[in-house]
Amino acid sequence: MHMNNLPNNNPKTSDKENYQLFNGLIKSVAGLVGVVVLLAGLVLSLVFLPEISTRLNSTSAELSSASPEPLADFSTEVVDGKDVETGLIAGNGLELVKANCTACHSSALILQNRFTREGWHSKIVWMQETQGLWDLGGNEAIILDYLAENYAPEESHGRRIPLTGIDWYELKD
Ligand code: HEC
Repeated sequence: MHMNNLPNNNPKTSDKENYQLFNGLIKSVAGLVGVVVLLAGLVLSLVFLPEISTRLNSTSAELSSASPEPLADFSTEVVDGKDVETGLIAGNGLELVKANCTACHSSALILQNRFTREGWHSKIVWMQETQGLWDLGGNEAIILDYLAENYAPEESHGRRIPLTGIDWYELKD
């Protein structure tokens, strides 16, 4: 930088000083703009932070309120004594049967079969030994009770039990 203590009447020098002045002005304006932008950002983030966080909260609230839905899917809607989803007879243990016995195959395999409790047990053991069915733990007894009660073999001996409570109607010509 060329410093000159003499009175400045040299047009070249004053040009240079003008330039320096201009340059300094530009720099300070740029600096000022930078500061303003920073401040604006700060203010905006302070203003919108609560809103953003409430939005995030509401989103997570929506998510957590949405999460019971798959469970609701699993809950049982019973029409005419049968679970709408699987066709299984409504009864104690239905939920456990749905949870454990319709994971690999449909409920059809249950619906089309009739076994005694021992028969059902041996099917379960067979599936455990050959098909990767898991240990049913304490639920096994409940599941077996359900199956034995609702999918028991029909009486195969003798005559069927007489029908009761029938509303006979007259045939008309
Ligand atoms: C880990 C998978 C799996 C699970 C869980 C499972 N099964 Fe099975 N199950 C099978 C397979 C595989 C077969 C053979 C399917 C075939 O023959 O097409 C089968 C067949 C059956 C059959 C027909 C057996 C036969 O002799 O024809 C019945 C009844 C049955 N399962 C009932 C159940 C019951 C009740 C449960 C719940 C306790 C259950 N399954 C859970 C895999 C499973």
